[in-house]
Amino acid sequence: MLPGATTTTTLGSTLLLSLPFFSVSVLAHAGAHESARGLPGPGYWYQRDNHPVHDLFKRDSAGATDGVSYPAVGSDGWSNGWPTQWSNGSPTPRAEWVTALNAAVARKAIPTYAPSTVTEDGGIPTYASGLNPTDASVCSGTYGCAIPGDVWNAPDGHIGISFDDGPLPPTDPLLDFLDAQTGKPTVTHFFIGSNILEQPAQFSRAFARGDDLAVHTWTHPMMTTRSNEDVVGEIGWTMELIHNSTGGRVPRFWRPPYGDTDTRVSAIAKEVFGLTTIVWNQDTADWSLTDSPPGTSLSAINSSYSGWLKGSKSPGLIVLEHELSNDSVNAFKSAWPEIVAEGWQISSLATLIGNGTVYLNAVDDTAAVNPVQDVVLAASVGLPKSSSAAPTQSGANLQAGGAGAGTAASAGSTASAKPTAAGTSAAQISFAAPSVTLFLAAFAAVLVVVL
Ligand SMILES: *[C@@H]1O[C@H](CO)[C@@H](O)[C@H](O)[C@H]1NC(C)=O
Ligand SMILES: *[C@@H]1O[C@H](CO)[C@@H](O)[C@H](O)[C@H]1NC(C)=O
Ligand SMILES: *[C@@H]1O[C@H](CO)[C@@H](O)[C@H](O)[C@H]1NC(C)=O
Ligand SMILES: *[C@@H]1O[C@H](CO)[C@@H](O)[C@H](O)[C@H]1NC(C)=O
Ligand SMILES: [Zn+2]
Repeated sequence: MLPGATTTTTLGSTLLLSLPFFSVSVLAHAGAHESARGLPGPGYWYQRDNHPVHDLFKRDSAGATDGVSYPAVGSDGWSNGWPTQWSNGSPTPRAEWVTALNAAVARKAIPTYAPSTVTEDGGIPTYASGLNPTDASVCSGTYGCAIPGDVWNAPDGHIGISFDDGPLPPTDPLLDFLDAQTGKPTVTHFFIGSNILEQPAQFSRAFARGDDLAVHTWTHPMMTTRSNEDVVGEIGWTMELIHNSTGGRVPRFWRPPYGDTDTRVSAIAKEVFGLTTIVWNQDTADWSLTDSPPGTSLSAINSSYSGWLKGSKSPGLIVLEHELSNDSVNAFKSAWPEIVAEGWQISSLATLIGNGTVYLNAVDDTAAVNPVQDVVLAASVGLPKSSSAAPTQSGANLQAGGAGAGTAASAGSTASAKPTAAGTSAAQISFAAPSVTLFLAAFAAVLVVVL
């Protein structure tokens, strides 16, 4: 573990209350959310109508899809027009996304410090001198620092199930297993764009069974090492591929590879794309089962799971797991009976964190994709549309505080350097303006339109 990391992280909550500089950073953060005016809900879309990203994800009509015809997943038409799979470096972003990025930078919504550097993916990123990765201004996930608004913990008593790095061939045995369980539980997949193009069958199967689809970048880099434009390219293309392969659903959640995010990266995800960042609070290290020599074993994972499941239910569990190999799937299968037996409330992670709404413009894989009601909503609740709009999120962010993450990644530059956030009492569940008023207003607005 890195010297001082835990102490500093714990200090985060104290700093929040005491130090003037932190209020400044909170204000900057709050101002960052002028376009984040509340939770998506029926008829509600995160970005303003005139937001450049909006054009790409425009809804044409209500219905089971967004009214646009998309090529069948797996067809030639479907696989055309995307960046190179596993391209060297991040894919070049679309011009619209860069426009949105530039607008966010101009309104000071994105911290301006330089990307970190790392010798090898999975290693410990270093920042330019003068930047402290455990300070709230940077708050590196790899160092165990949890950014207000990012999600590290599940609500008490709940376990949110998710798998990273698919779709891949082991997705099939995973889904076979889930289909064989009582109630055919659904799970969240943090999918890699490049893998979606390579495994359309597994992608379609996950979507068809109602699993929640979320973003895990195009080439799986350590995101804090990438430029703003690279971050936008990594997220944007994966988001667009999921969108175009699900009848127009816009993902609401993403997970940074290696848990490597910081205030710059999480702000880009939120400000440009409306995504909420989800990390984890327990790590199986199941991805290292197939290393040689293996970094862990099925029995080690089994006993870790046992400890977590029999331990405190506060906060709830978000366990890092992968659909990378049959063995990583087997690790989950072996834990499942105990997950069920220990009395946890079990659900797909995105459903849990999103209270049932897993896409920005649709509740789930089968509910209608909603048309835009943004103008109506803004008019009916008096929300300004200009960039000087009052943020609606600062309260939620303030409450989230800087605590929550625990131990930082172990030092050493191997791929095993992943953060394992020890569970703490301060649940890091924070959302954009959970405002009942906004929700009601949104419903009212829709009614007005319908009438
Ligand atoms: C994705 O779908 C949109 C229509 O919603 C279309 O404009 C865009 O070209 C598609 N992307 C690709 C790479 O085919
Ligand atoms: C993984 O398991 C499936 C059956 O569940 C099997 O068909 C496949 O060959 C296995 N893959 C490897 C690499 O062992
Ligand atoms: C551990 O393995 C045993 C035997 O395979 C299994 O019954 C149990 O549910 C597993 N427990 C966990 C927590 O993985
Ligand atoms: C989900 O529900 C909980 C409990 O009612 C609430 O605290 C939280 O803000 C909600 N989150 C979202 C995203 O709606
Ligand atoms: Zn990953």
